[in-house]
Parts: sequence; C-alpha cells; structure tokens
Amino acid sequence: MRVTATAEFMLEPILEPNKDQGTSRDAIGLGQAAGKGLNTRHGTILTLEDISVSFDGFKALNDLNLYIGVGELRCIIGPNGAGKTTLMDVITGKTRPSHGKAWFGETLDLTSLSEVQIAQAGIGRKFQKPTVFEALSVFENLELAQKTDKSVWASLRARLSGEQRDRIDEVLDTIRLTASAHRPAGLLSHGQKQFLEIGMLLMQDPQLLLLDEPVAGMTDAETEFTAELFKRLAGKHSLMVVEHDMGFVGSIADHVTVLHQGSVLAEGSLAQVQENERVIEVYLGR
Ligand SMILES: Nc1ncnc2c1ncn2[C@@H]1O[C@H](COP(=O)(O)OP(=O)(O)O)[C@@H](O)[C@H]1O
Ligand SMILES: [Mg+2]
Repeated sequence: MRVTATAEFMLEPILEPNKDQGTSRDAIGLGQAAGKGLNTRHGTILTLEDISVSFDGFKALNDLNLYIGVGELRCIIGPNGAGKTTLMDVITGKTRPSHGKAWFGETLDLTSLSEVQIAQAGIGRKFQKPTVFEALSVFENLELAQKTDKSVWASLRARLSGEQRDRIDEVLDTIRLTASAHRPAGLLSHGQKQFLEIGMLLMQDPQLLLLDEPVAGMTDAETEFTAELFKRLAGKHSLMVVEHDMGFVGSIADHVTVLHQGSVLAEGSLAQVQENERVIEVYLGR
C-alpha cells in the first residue's frame, strides 16, 4: 500500500502507536541502512538473467539480461511500454518475474526477498512524483529518513547524535538545500522536492539507486544540477536512471541500455546506440 507522505503525516497523531507506520516509507525505498556486507567480488552490483514478467499472457519483460557494475551510472531508455518501470518493479520486489535470475551482489537473490528486505539490503528507489512530508521542514524530512524507528513523532522527539546531525548537514549540502533546511518542505519548488527526496534516499546510504524520470518537470537549471549531482554520486553508489530527456542522458551516462518490448535492444555509449539501425527504427517507427 502506498500512502502519500502528507496523508500519513496527518493521520499519525490519531493512529499512534501504529505498527504499520513504516510500511509506506519502506515501500518507497526508505528502508534501513544498507547492508554493509554486500559481496560484489566480481564488480557487478546487479545481475538480471532471462527475466520475464507476464501480465495476462502479455510479456512486459521478455528474457531480459542486464548487468550493472559497482559504482556505475547506467541510463535506461526506450519507448513507452518498453518495460522500464516493470524492470524497476522486479528489482525492488514489487513484481515477481515468472522466471529468471535477479541477484544483488553475489549472494542476495532478489526474487526471494520482500520489498522491505530489498530496501534494507541497500536498494533505494525514487518514484517520479516526490513524496516528501510537506508539513515538516527539510531538515526533519532528512532526520526521519535516517531513523529506523517507525513512528514519526518518536523519531522527531529522539535526540540526534552529533554524528547524525553531521550526516544530515552533509546531505543538505549535497542536495544544495542548506539554506532551506528549516523551511517546510511543502514550500519548496518541484525540483527542490525532488532533490529532497534524493537526499532522503541518501540518508540510508543505498548501494544501488533507482531513479524513474528524475528530471521530468524540472527547469533547465535544476536538470543541470541533477546531472552534476548524479555524476558526483556515481562511484560511491551505483545508479540506474530511466529518462526520456536525451540531452540529460547524454550529459551523464557513459553507458546506455535501450529497452524495447521487454528486452534489451542495444547497449553502449549514447552515440553508439543512437547510430544503431534497430534503435533508429524503434524510435522513428520505420
Ligand atoms: N500491472 C500491469 N498489468 C498489465 N499490464 C501491465 C502492468 N504493468 C505494466 N503493464 C504493461 O507492460 C508494458 C510495460 O510497461 P512499463 O514497464 O510501465 O513500460 P515503460 O515504463 O517502459 O513505459 C506496457 O505494455 C504496460 O501496459
Ligand atoms: Mg514507465
């Protein structure tokens, strides 16, 4: 169940103590701290092999193979209906493949873990629409994302350690919201809310970040900052970015995967895939 952050926040005083309080946070990828012991010996953080997903006989993913390296920044492109969102759903455990292998590192079988376990293992996902707590300040949003306690009020009442405060300050700086730290998140621009949500994911220090159309609706300046931010995050984290904005893709990705009808159609640099005849056919409908 996904509840909007605002609705959950408003319900909190009535429902507390509510053991389900954390469910929607976990469902948007804000689980606990990333698993430190992830084994990525062969330099691959994500391995997908022969993944198929069927909806009433229709194959949204069809024997898909995809490998993402540790610290890589991978862009996934492809026409509407290609299976990009379904791919993220499989990685995060929201949708189960009918067959195929999905490994996080060398040892974690994603097909046998729940959504919450996958978030806890270190995979964070950002959906298109920002889901920040509008009535809370930017700082408090980051504070909540850091806490493992499931109750909003208990989290905000608990005192922060110096180390926790430093980490929040560091993330505020990373997402360029230091000056807005004490403003209600509801007053931020659309782009700033997106940055805050990325910051909330970063509080969990995920090894793999999945971002679905992160620059949709952003101004040019915000898009440029997002490109700069993602390039800075790569290396320390692995990123998988689904995006339609080719200017943006060209500015961040050294490696692009083109999805079409649930399978990988082409892979390479953006220039390489743009020259690929089959890709041109799919995009131009020839
Ligand atoms: N829950 C579902 N039930 C039935 N069909 C679905 C479902 N989710 C996705 N699909 C279909 O699977 C295909 C891939 O969808 P999606 O992964 O959302 O594509 P993309 O994100 O690349 O636009 C589409 O044809 C879509 O209609
Ligand atoms: Mg989609």
